[in-house]
Formats: sequence, structure tokens, C-alpha cells
Amino acid sequence: MMPNILKTRVCSNDAASSASRSWPAVISMHQVKFGGSMLSSRTGVIENRRSKLERMQTIALVTNEQHAATLYISLPEAFIEKKKTLVKLSSKQQGTDQKRAARQRKVLMAGNWKMNPASIKEAREMAALLASSLRTIAQDKPGFDVEVVVIPPSPFLHIVADVLSGTVAKIGAQDVHPESKGAFTGEVSTGMLMSMGVSYVLAGHSERRNLFNESDAVVNKKVKAVLASGLSPILCIGESKEEYESGLVKDVCSKQLREGLVGVSAEDLQEKLVIAYEPVWAIGTGLTATPAIAQSVHSYIRSVIKEMYSPEVANAVRIQYGGSVTPESVDELMTCPDIDGCLVGGASLVAEKFSRIFSYQAPPPGSPEKLYASEVVPCGCTLGESVVWSEAMQSLFWVDSVGQALWSWRPSEGTGTSKPIRWKLPEVVGCVALQESGDLLLGLQSGIFNFDLTAGVARKLTDFERPLDTRPNDGRVDRFGSFVVGSYNNAHRQDGAEIGGLWRLNPDGNMQEILDYKFRCSNCVCFSPDGLTMYFTDTPTRRIFAFDYNPAGKLSNRRLVYELPSSISGGPDGAQTDAQGHLWVCLSGASRVVRLEPLTGAVEAVVELPVTSPTCCTFGGPDLDTLYITTRGPDGGGLYCVKMPPGIRGIAEPMFAWSAVQHGSSCAAPEGKIGPARWSRASDNQGESWMSASSRISQGMDEVKLPRRVTSTNGLLSISSDYQTKPAWLTSGNSSQASRFCADCGHAHTTLTAKFCTECGAPRITLYGQ
Ligand code: PGA
Repeated sequence: MMPNILKTRVCSNDAASSASRSWPAVISMHQVKFGGSMLSSRTGVIENRRSKLERMQTIALVTNEQHAATLYISLPEAFIEKKKTLVKLSSKQQGTDQKRAARQRKVLMAGNWKMNPASIKEAREMAALLASSLRTIAQDKPGFDVEVVVIPPSPFLHIVADVLSGTVAKIGAQDVHPESKGAFTGEVSTGMLMSMGVSYVLAGHSERRNLFNESDAVVNKKVKAVLASGLSPILCIGESKEEYESGLVKDVCSKQLREGLVGVSAEDLQEKLVIAYEPVWAIGTGLTATPAIAQSVHSYIRSVIKEMYSPEVANAVRIQYGGSVTPESVDELMTCPDIDGCLVGGASLVAEKFSRIFSYQAPPPGSPEKLYASEVVPCGCTLGESVVWSEAMQSLFWVDSVGQALWSWRPSEGTGTSKPIRWKLPEVVGCVALQESGDLLLGLQSGIFNFDLTAGVARKLTDFERPLDTRPNDGRVDRFGSFVVGSYNNAHRQDGAEIGGLWRLNPDGNMQEILDYKFRCSNCVCFSPDGLTMYFTDTPTRRIFAFDYNPAGKLSNRRLVYELPSSISGGPDGAQTDAQGHLWVCLSGASRVVRLEPLTGAVEAVVELPVTSPTCCTFGGPDLDTLYITTRGPDGGGLYCVKMPPGIRGIAEPMFAWSAVQHGSSCAAPEGKIGPARWSRASDNQGESWMSASSRISQGMDEVKLPRRVTSTNGLLSISSDYQTKPAWLTSGNSSQASRFCADCGHAHTTLTAKFCTECGAPRITLYGQ
């Protein structure tokens, strides 16, 4: 039986060990195991696994004759140091500009007048207004350092150049012929443009590609001709609406880039050529890609340049965004670290609007820092959820809830080369959690399961809220080694009934209800670094609460941390705390994750995503300094990530620590709400494999066994024979065959490039662990 906790103390590791030496009145009793720490109460010596000492707080529970206890929490020195100097996040527009400048990328704002205005008189007037505005800016803002380019139609080049002379504005041309002279009626050459004072020339604008059938090969010829003449090309790329809706953005951009840049030197790319990403569906339509969508494509473009040239070239090349840019949208677009300016159409025809665009403004001081997440695993989950990072396996695990799958991926293997692994599950799944044994816990529709990764076998440990029509939803292991999991009323969208409970599966196998009210949809389950505060939300209420967390008792002292403002759609979903104890909460439906100050609920940072619904997040990577985010369909489904600003990192995910076998304690569920609560009792109806599982766990207790690594020579982990849903091709281990069939309906794909199954419409998954 767990003693009551009388007091807690936070001390450094050294202080904890000296405290342990002087602890008085420690009586002899069984070893107590919490969160991976063993306390022999006889000697007062704490044994810890090294990784725990380095990564997270360790717990020592000291009991006296009266069965009272003191809970000692020792924290690594580095963490205590960080607590003293909390990293402050603030408005970072200046920061974004500084980063661009550090990479020597000067902002370039270009106004493409297209076939406007109607007469030379109007062109002169437009240019004169712009010139006046530029002179005012030069006076008012001496440090103004934006490159402004005006791109009028050819007949007006001369007059516009003339009116703008003496200002900082440069002149651009909308098109050019690749040949330098000859019988090309109606065309203009680079030499003619140069003689009129032109500096930039557009190549591959979508209107030329679509209305004048310009191919990538023609665009490439123009790019090379412009460079050869000493002018700077602006190479325009971007996908159509249909391509965007079919998920082909990357494919289209990559093709247009690669073919447009054939024969272009690294030097020209670094010093002259500019890329403009213009989603065709956003040009002249009033639809703007959200900053997060634009940023994710810009960051992808940079990754392609890195692959084609080098990291230096990728860092140096300027990438503009274009497509319905307005004075209203420019400020936010310019907070994106990979957007180096805008190519503006309609709004550049009005001098006042264009001026506001090229003198874009930083967010007001004190605004939350903006970060942008990009996709790392295009796993196409219907409802990605519950991402956890295993330090021991250096792997992420997450689930596709209604897609009934468990996913894993090792980022250290490098984006693009590592192969995520997917296990098909037999039921809807709410969450996954780590165990010290190396197995996982899975919250499936019908109960909490033990999942043996190596054998691929899932076995039920306990039912969940039977006979209610609920299932486990968000769950995490607390910092004491117990698994806390909340419920989801499967019918809550219809009946709105608050019938779900919040439960804790204790290391001794007992299941205990820890919240004294019911709700519809549990989320946000996560813990403060010291483990003594728990965060929780019933998503439909849009409110996040903090509670005092007693590892042996119920939640108490509820207080409101954050309520989603009515201006923001969606609801709070999964969350995780960082090492400073601040909360990172996914706002599903609002395309963002927010960092909250845990006492005031102040929003300190916003991670924007290019998809509508982030669902859960956690810190991962070898340094725990990357935030990984699961998302859901229909526009999302992939795993996203964002590198944290310096000083922000997570804490290692605690692991569930079975102790039931060793203690052989009572299996009665204390509150009698569900049962059977202990897996050994559940084994009665599950067959003999329960016995082998239990003996293995029992041995693990004695040796503090290290979790097994997920390895396999061909990277393929077998799938549960209990749940024979293994597609035939999975057994082959042949990667070329592996991508041929739809993972959802088994349909044989007819082409190798299809992104979606033509039979059932599911996103095509080519990522099984070959
Ligand atoms: P838009 O045009 O700003 O009117 O959408 C952009 C472009 O065509 O470059």
C-alpha cells in the first residue's frame, strides 16, 4: 500500500544523495519503485538509471514507522540552473529580419503590373505616386533596406524607369526572348532590356506557362539567357489548384525547380537568381496561402536547393512568395523565416498599397514568438494522436486513432532516408505510452493493452469503462510511473453526455478513478516537471485546467489555466510541458500549437502549421529540442516538427513501471468501477501467454532491464499474429513491391506516382518498414 505523502522537497542530485544518507527512521520494507528509481528504504540508498539522472527528476520515497513519507525529488543540476533563468520569448520580427540578414538575404519586394495600366499617362502617374512614397520613406526611415522592384509592361519600361530614377526602386521586365536578336516578331531581347535600365526579368510566371504554353525547357532557356546578359531572373514556380488538392505541391515545385535550373551555376543562384513561389490557386483570386503553408513550401524549396547544390547555396538563395499579397497579409507572411519578400500583382497597381507592402511592419512588441512547423513523416493519418519520444529507442511513437494504426520513426536516421514503421491495429486506438520493459501500453477501444514491439503482439491488460460506449483517449505516464488515461464518449457529438472518467493505472496493476467529475472528451493530459501538477481539458469546454497531482490520490485544487478565445476556432487537444514547465497545447481546428505560461495562461509562442488540426505534441530528438506534432485529416495527417528556439527543450517521457508481480499485491480495483483491473486476473480469459508476459516483467524488476531496441536487419517488424491484418506484401520485405498496394483497402495501385488510392481514396502509404 502506498504511504501518504507528507511533504516534498526539491533538491539537486548531490543534495538528494546526502539527504538520503541522513534520512532518519527509515524502516525496513520492500523496495519501492517509482519512475525508474529504486529506493531501498532499509539503507536509504537511491539507485537510478543514468539516463534518468541526466534527463529527468528522480523520486525517492522515504517512509517512517508511522507509514508517513517524504517525497524527495531530485533534479539534474542543469535543469535547476535553467529554472533560475527562464528563457523569455518575445516578438521576433526583428529576429526574423536579423536571421535573414545574417544569411545575407536582402528582402525583395516586386510589383508585377501585368498588362496594366491602359495608357502611358496612367503609367507615369502610378510611377510618380510610387516615387513620392519612396522619397518619404527614405526621409522617415533612414535604415530602410528593402529592395523594391517595379515590373511594368514593356512599352512603359522606359517612362517608369525615368520617373523612378533617383529613388531606390529598380525596374523589372515581365518577359524576354532567349535569343539575343533576329526574326522574332513581337519579342524583346535581354540587350534591349538592359539598355532601358532593367535589372530583373520574370521567367516562368504561371500566366506565361498556362496561357502561352511555356514549358520548363523554355523557362530554363530564358533563365540562362537572362543570367548570361548579367541581369537577374526571377524564376516563378507553383502548383495549380488541382495539384494542390491532390497533394502534389512538392512534386510540382521540385520538377519546375530542377528543370528551370538546369545549367545554372551555384554562384548565379547565390548572387543573382531569385525564386518566386506562387501557388497558382492564389494568384489574383484573393486566396492567400496561409503563412504556415507558404513557409512549409519555402522551406521545402530550400531543401531541394540544398540537395541540388549545397547548404550554403540553399541558405543564400532568395525566395519570394506571391499570390494575392495585400497590406493586410504581408506582415504575417514576412514573419516566416524562409520568405524573403513578395511578388505582388493586383496590390502593386495602387501605390499606397504597394508602399505599405514594401514597408511591411513587425508585430507589436510583446507579441508571441512565431514558429513554423513542417512535415517530416507524410504518414497520412486519418487522426494522428498521442506522440511520445522514447529516449532508449531514440524513436517516436504515435497512433492513427480511427485509422487503427501504431507508427514509429527514428529521426536520427535522417529525413528522407529513414523508413517509418506502421503496425495495423484491430481497433480504434486512443493513445500509446512507454514502458520500462520496452513494451508499449496501448489504449484501444476495448481496453488497455500491452504491446510487445518485437513480437508485434498486443494483449489486453484491463477493460476500460465497460459497458459504456467510451474508449481511452489522451493518456500519458505520470512522473511516478503510473499511466493516466482519460475517456472519450464515442457519441459525445450526438448526445453531448458527460460520461467519461479520468483513470490511473498504477504500477501495482490497480486502476483508480482520479477526477471527481465526468466529461466528454479528455485531452491535454500532461504533467509539470516536478510531476505534482497535472493539466487536463474536456475539449468541448475549450478550457484547460491545472490540478494538484497526488500520485496516490485524486486530482484536487482545480484552477483555470487557459480558455480558447471565441475568435479562435477548434479546441484544445494534446499537450506537453517543456523543461521550464510551460505548456505546449495543440489547438485542433486552429492550425497552431501555443506555448502557455502555466500560471497566467499567457500565450508566449505560436507554432503555425500548414494544416488545420494539430492533435498532440511532444519533445524529441537526441537533445529533446524538437517539438513533434501529430495532425489529422482531411488536409493534415502527417507528423510535423519544429526546432525549438535556444534554451527550450523537453523532459524525457516517463515510462510505465510494473511492480505488480513483485509485490503480488491485491488485484481489487479500489473503487470497484471497472474490473478485472489487474492483468494477472485478465489473464484468466486471455490464455497462457499472460504467464510468459508476467514472468518476463518479473525478471525485469530484479535487473532493471534496459528496454529493447526496435531493430531488425531489414527494418521490418513483424505484426501481431493475433490481428492478422498484415498485407501480403509486408512479408516480402521488398521495397519496390511494398508500395504497390493500398494499406487501407489492399487495392493494387496502377501507377507508382498516385498519391491517393483510386479505390478507397486513402492517402497512399509507401513507408512500411522495409
Ligand atoms: P496577385 O498576382 O498578387 O494579383 O495575386 C501575383 C503575381 O501574379 O505575381
